[in-house]
Amino acid sequence: MRKIIIDTDPGIDDALAILLALSAKEELDVLALTTVNGNVDVEKVTKNAFKILDVAGRADIPVYKGNGKPLVRENSMPADCHGDDGLGNIGMTDSDRMPEEESAADFLIRKVREEKGEITLVPIGPLTNIAEAVQKDPEFVSNVKEVIIMGGAVYGGNVTPHAEFNFWVDPEAAKIVFQAGFNNLVMIGLDATKYVWLDPVLRELLYQIHTPASRFIHKVTRVYADAHWGYGQKLGCELCDALVTAYLLDENVLDTIDAFVEVETQGLCDGASVVYPVTKFTDKGINCKVAVSADTKKFFEIFFGYLFPEYLEIVRTIQG
Ligand code: RIB
Ligand code: CA
Repeated sequence: MRKIIIDTDPGIDDALAILLALSAKEELDVLALTTVNGNVDVEKVTKNAFKILDVAGRADIPVYKGNGKPLVRENSMPADCHGDDGLGNIGMTDSDRMPEEESAADFLIRKVREEKGEITLVPIGPLTNIAEAVQKDPEFVSNVKEVIIMGGAVYGGNVTPHAEFNFWVDPEAAKIVFQAGFNNLVMIGLDATKYVWLDPVLRELLYQIHTPASRFIHKVTRVYADAHWGYGQKLGCELCDALVTAYLLDENVLDTIDAFVEVETQGLCDGASVVYPVTKFTDKGINCKVAVSADTKKFFEIFFGYLFPEYLEIVRTIQG
């Protein structure tokens, strides 16, 4: 059983990552959600976190509100693919729950100190909260068991030709995290998440499964699929963050390389993750593992296998 804290900016793919994590009750103990400015502002993101927990019936899981802006920069532009409310504009009622008093960074610092070497951090939004915790507590890095990030890319970006959204929103935070010296840091970026594509057939299956969770996923991905069609006339949508949860459940879902990663914080390539594979750049050393590809079929077997296990055989038939 892995104890995890998901640092998140829900966000439609964040919602799927969280629901998948909550469905894996034997494998993952979700201690809390910490929220961060990213896809939309931190107020909306925090409300969305509670809505997702309400869908999963998990009012027992606390939410800690984090940073409303990047570490040093002025605020960022919201993402354009999650709807104005950040959760597909499906008109969900706000939860009556409130975030805890403690800030996200202070909670992260306290919790990993209380359970040294036990907790996996799962940041699937900009790294502002994680970087703040690194800066505030000199022992934070050594208290953390592992950090499994959705962000960055070896090649390309999705906001600029070189920058992925989570790193683009707060490059200084990402730079701090990769320089901090975490023992077990895994960067799951666009080179891998591009294989995690929810196509129209699997999305229709979610509708036909007809449970609150499946219908929620079908509904929130409408806006997300529309945005992806606008990007490149491709049907479906990329479930970036959910790949992180799938990796926690089965590391064989993706291929990784040992590498040294630095993050650019200025100029034309601002927000770019510069990846030095150790096999080629031996002098740079290693500060993380980087995902270079993912197994689409395995991902959806994990996704449906945990969330809707009685439909796993249909998924296997659909995927061929
Ligand atoms: O680039 C993909 C990332 O940006 C995901 O975390 C998605 O939620 C958006 O925040
Ligand atoms: Ca996210």
